Amino acid sequence: MSFFSQAFDGASEAALVTGAGNGIGRAIAQALVAEGVRTVFADIKAETVQAAIAASGAPGLCTAWVGDLAERSECDRLLREAGAALGTITHFVHSASPPRREADHAMAVSDETWLRMRAVNVDAGFHLGRELSRALIAAKRPGSLMYLTSLHAGTPRNLPHYSTSKAAMAMMVKEFAKTLGPYQIRVNALVPGAILAGGFVADPALSRHVPLGRLGQAQDLAPLALAVLSNRISGYVTGAAIVIDGGLSLTNWFDAPQLDL
Ligand SMILES: NC(=O)c1ccc[n+]([C@@H]2O[C@H](COP(=O)([O-])OP(=O)(O)OC[C@H]3O[C@@H](n4cnc5c(N)ncnc54)[C@H](O)[C@@H]3O)[C@@H](O)[C@H]2O)c1
Repeated sequence: MSFFSQAFDGASEAALVTGAGNGIGRAIAQALVAEGVRTVFADIKAETVQAAIAASGAPGLCTAWVGDLAERSECDRLLREAGAALGTITHFVHSASPPRREADHAMAVSDETWLRMRAVNVDAGFHLGRELSRALIAAKRPGSLMYLTSLHAGTPRNLPHYSTSKAAMAMMVKEFAKTLGPYQIRVNALVPGAILAGGFVADPALSRHVPLGRLGQAQDLAPLALAVLSNRISGYVTGAAIVIDGGLSLTNWFDAPQLDL
């Protein structure tokens, strides 16, 4: 039997991806529908959601949802509308995150920016994950939740609202994984390095520090994200933080050795 030709069951499984209008969320949502999974594309920007669906190759499997996940009432509307459109959501990806601005260092970031980052990354991530899990437990269905965290859950980024929210998400994944494991709901973190997507303005010099020699693309993450989401491929993986960074996290102040080959 091939594991990879049937990673998902399109008839019974359905997905919700936040931040699906751009970058990593968009790549994962499009990859899910390419595997035949009915998927809600949720984002705050209507035009990018429509563009992501139009470019997905399977618009009939896509449901658009537009709203501000910083608002609890909007999160609840998303839960209601996703359930009405697709029934029980078995796979959840939380990729939405407000823009990061380099000017927002510890002595400059405003209360509003701090709260909004936490509201989308942590509060919405927790509320959506918990309520989707409640529905899965009630339906006696297995599930898979994935949170996009960051290498900056563990190292400073000069953006304290961002790094602290990612650190909170990293622990949220572990709390959920332990609590929900007995119900066969797996919860994992995907930890990107430097990925050229909307949320990250790259310094070209950074690629010098990536052992694989280049910055990442959103499409680099989608196959591994699907493998981890799939209960058939990764049915015994939960509470994991899977780094996908071209080796960036191996960087320290020593350069790689010059090999005399
Ligand atoms: N790009 C990277 O290098 C990188 C590195 C580490 C972690 N990450 C994480 O991966 C995830 C995706 O990153 P990306 O670079 O693709 O980001 P991105 O900015 O390209 O996409 C994020 C999406 O979230 C949406 N969004 C923002 N606020 C929202 C809100 N209030 N309600 C609904 N949608 C909202 C945006 O409109 C956007 O489409 C983020 O959680 C980010 O922190 C990215």
